[in-house]
Amino acid sequence: MCGIVGYIGDKKAQDVLLSGLKRLEYRGYDSAGIGVIEDNDIKVIKSKGNLAVLINKVGDETIGTQGIGHTRWATHGKPCDENSHPHLSENGKFCLVHNGIIENYLELKKELIGKGYNFKSDTDSEVIVNLFQLFDDGDFISTTKKVTGKIEGSYAIGVIDKENSDEFLVVRKDSPLVVGVGRGENFIASDIPAILEYTKNIYILDDGEIALISRDDVKIFDKAGNRITKKLREITWSLESAEKQGYEHFMLKEINEQPEAIRKTLAGRIKNDLVDLNLNMDDAYVKSINKIAIVACGTANYAGRVVGHLIEDKLRIPVLVSYASEFRYNNPIIDEKTLTIVISQSGETADTLAGLRESKGRGSKIVAITNVVESSVAREADYVIYTQAGPEIAVASTKAYTTQIIALFMLLIELGFKRDILDVATINEWVKEMQSVPEKMQLILENSQLIKNYAEQIKDSSSLFFIGRGVDSVSCLEGALKLKEISYIHAEAYPAGELKHGTLALITDDVPVIAIGTNKVLMDKIISNIAEVKTRGASTYGVGFEDENKLIAEVDYYIPIPRISEALAPLLAVIPLQLLAYYTSVVKGNDVDKPRNLAKSVTVE
Ligand code: M6R
Repeated sequence: MCGIVGYIGDKKAQDVLLSGLKRLEYRGYDSAGIGVIEDNDIKVIKSKGNLAVLINKVGDETIGTQGIGHTRWATHGKPCDENSHPHLSENGKFCLVHNGIIENYLELKKELIGKGYNFKSDTDSEVIVNLFQLFDDGDFISTTKKVTGKIEGSYAIGVIDKENSDEFLVVRKDSPLVVGVGRGENFIASDIPAILEYTKNIYILDDGEIALISRDDVKIFDKAGNRITKKLREITWSLESAEKQGYEHFMLKEINEQPEAIRKTLAGRIKNDLVDLNLNMDDAYVKSINKIAIVACGTANYAGRVVGHLIEDKLRIPVLVSYASEFRYNNPIIDEKTLTIVISQSGETADTLAGLRESKGRGSKIVAITNVVESSVAREADYVIYTQAGPEIAVASTKAYTTQIIALFMLLIELGFKRDILDVATINEWVKEMQSVPEKMQLILENSQLIKNYAEQIKDSSSLFFIGRGVDSVSCLEGALKLKEISYIHAEAYPAGELKHGTLALITDDVPVIAIGTNKVLMDKIISNIAEVKTRGASTYGVGFEDENKLIAEVDYYIPIPRISEALAPLLAVIPLQLLAYYTSVVKGNDVDKPRNLAKSVTVE
């Protein structure tokens, strides 16, 4: 996904910009560029490909101390030099970087062409920079207001003006942007890690806000152009915590961080063996809830499915779990008695944010479960539960998933208690089980050699199946997603009982089947489903409790997990699946942390 960085100060801007862009590489991109003011002119250097290509091209080309940089993930127009950012206005006065999508850019482009403007790229972003030229009235703020009055869609924009080497401007709507404050120097970034090396003092801009940034000052304005005062936040994470800490890949580091991430997510929320999320949810409101809608994408959606299942089972409240990309187009049945739970690691996923707004517009209260403090979903929700996973850099989500499940589980307990469905003794029991998760995860992590061997065995398969019953079939969805995402092997998750209704035709001796069995009631069922695929020649792998002897005897290979209450089993069952995907990707020589075609945070629809 696109990344922005900007600088004004005494340092050579290209150095700050390139190091900032390097920190944003994890977001995924296909081209990059910088624009630096020098001698009343703007030097733009950009190229398709990775940062190494750009760094080589930049060389010692620029010496200016003010500039903007960008990593692009193509949305309008293919990845190529011309479509890379920054873009210059036709008269070369303005230079702009943009994250987001301008929905009415075609009309605007037509209008500008009609006025004699020529375009060099296929991007929607070049329209914006030419609007700066069109509306240029000598006052940066008033020009910006005119531009933002014309464009529809989402944007985080950084603009420099070659005639103004003392300041530059940023504005945002529905796309994140922060301003970093230093001494005699200031920064902008779409993500905090880009500038954390230089400053820990950050302004987080809200929708519609504009900031005018000079070496010694940051002036912030609301969308009407009135000067406002904002709270300067001190970011407490160190840059080190966003680095690999000795692991070969961020993904492996993040898989191994899960015990700690679960501990941190529980911390401060368990009191006297009861759960207190400090949400200040009114008891009468909790009792009035007659439906729960869970809205999220990808892995976050599967976390929702794991606990959605349990909420229906334990609290007897109907739960609708939707893919956020579909939700708002399905005319969902939501009203003020529906509680909507949105789940998003980044808190910036465009579809999830749109789902949140759809539900809110229909009168529902919103609980956001997110890993990013002050992210868009956090700011727009009525209640927020922060997962304490720390920055997740690998595109494949791991620790975000398990911390989302634990956060949801705590929410389930709190709702159950307030609705007089769960008694203290039951909650005490569940709390103890939750507290046992980190240690049990650790035991699985220590047994990873076995999984490494299995990765060798499956690495040349062209297709795999994950099968399970009940909530295990949700763990299958996550296992298959992980494997597809980073090993590029086709994998399909299937409710095991459905195989015989068509899919069994695909099972042959070169299609391994991974079966998850953690449910006692359904154990005999999954065992007969395994027998069905074995008969068709499939080699079978089982994931289940360490003492599940019947299951162990049925499969060819087995990955044991420590026993835990069935409700929490998905938290353990997913660890071998994450490791299997990881080691398969490594053995295939893939780019584990940055899989092809994917981005960490999907901030466009
Ligand atoms: O930041 P979010 O949790 O909203 O992201 C949602 C999905 O894009 C994300 O979980 C994605 O599916 C992961 N890359 C999967 O590993």
